Amino acid sequence: MTPSTEPGLVLPDGFLMGASTSAHQVEGNNVSSDWWALENRPGSFVAERSGDAADSFHRWPEDMDLLSGLGFNAYRFGIEWARIEPERGQVSRAAVAHYRAMVRGALERGLTPVVTLHHFTSPRWFSELGGWTSPESDELFAAYARTAAEILREGVRYVATINEPNMIALMHTLVRRAVRDTGGGDGSPAGGHGEGAAALGPGAVEPDAEVTRALIRAHRAASAALKEAGPGLRVGWTVANQVYQAEPGAEEVAAAYARPREDVFLEAAREDDWIGVQAYTRHRIGPDGPLPVPEGAATTLTGWEVYPEALGEAIRHTAGVVGPHVPVLVTENGIATDDDGLRITYTTGALASLASALRDGVDVRGYLHWSALDNYEWGSYRPRFGLISVDPHTFAREPKESARWLGALARAGRIPEHPAAAPGALPCAG
Ligand code: BGC
Repeated sequence: MTPSTEPGLVLPDGFLMGASTSAHQVEGNNVSSDWWALENRPGSFVAERSGDAADSFHRWPEDMDLLSGLGFNAYRFGIEWARIEPERGQVSRAAVAHYRAMVRGALERGLTPVVTLHHFTSPRWFSELGGWTSPESDELFAAYARTAAEILREGVRYVATINEPNMIALMHTLVRRAVRDTGGGDGSPAGGHGEGAAALGPGAVEPDAEVTRALIRAHRAASAALKEAGPGLRVGWTVANQVYQAEPGAEEVAAAYARPREDVFLEAAREDDWIGVQAYTRHRIGPDGPLPVPEGAATTLTGWEVYPEALGEAIRHTAGVVGPHVPVLVTENGIATDDDGLRITYTTGALASLASALRDGVDVRGYLHWSALDNYEWGSYRPRFGLISVDPHTFAREPKESARWLGALARAGRIPEHPAAAPGALPCAG
């Protein structure tokens, strides 16, 4: 890193700066997936349906044009298992061709693709077999990964097997309970995000230990399949980092709380090629467990405390658990707010905490903001995380000021080193 008179930390060569989406949240009409079934069940606990989402299934070239035009050099997007294998063993060649075109499209626009194979949604048939609790889940997922390798061979380097396995294990319990309570079907869980904050707060549920083991098995089986099919692939997974902070005297309680909810999933990544950090806020742990958001603290549209430093703390914690030989990619970080100035302020603070970790020698290779677009937030369109707004009727895209600001940083290859460096925005409630 060369010293410079201009403000901000010069990013290492090849550093990825971009934004993220997931297939179900932006594509629309993901009709063969278990989440679609859950949303459309009579009396479903899912308040709002995904419907057309941002129609990115058709509009991905426009999304990529915007991202590269803004100055970004990377785009994390998902490929959808339910489209690629809508029925067990039946591969849709059209879906494979669609995603191959997306990979080529990203590369042609100078965007390094970071591709997620599973982002909360599974094919309906997989859930009906028991989902991650099915004894065949690792084999079924590895078979899908082998098919996905055909897409990845178009030029993908970074592939994530499963997004936030720790949230899936946690939500398994919650979704099953909610489906049972609303009388909808057999209670087989979709494994999604839903009321994620509530799942972690006071009265939080336990992650399902069987699902945890199954996810680790599936990750390993898929990684082996991907390495065999595409030796150049760099395989990892992305973990929800909750930044569990111990109140004085609660260190042991916090460590015991964090272990099944986060650290076992990080430990499982010690042999991986990279690890994805996804951090938004912190969770304070007292002697009796999780504490509510501090009184008077600013919160976002998802009810999370505005706490940008979470990113640097998550990066350092992750690197400490996985070890220095596994590079870190920030695959999600962002804020649900209608106040775009606050998005810039928050992201400035988050990037400053990332810069400090980089300065201290942590091997961070990229920052992918959540999210590229305003999108379907697992049951509601209300929390808006996007750098780019999307009109729900015309699907017209409009980059926000934050998109131009972050894109300019990407183009300049610099990030703020001080939380106060935001261009004139003051923190306030989202
Ligand atoms: C998930 C995204 C979600 C975001 C904001 C992450 O946990 O991977 O799908 O939209 O958080 O809630």
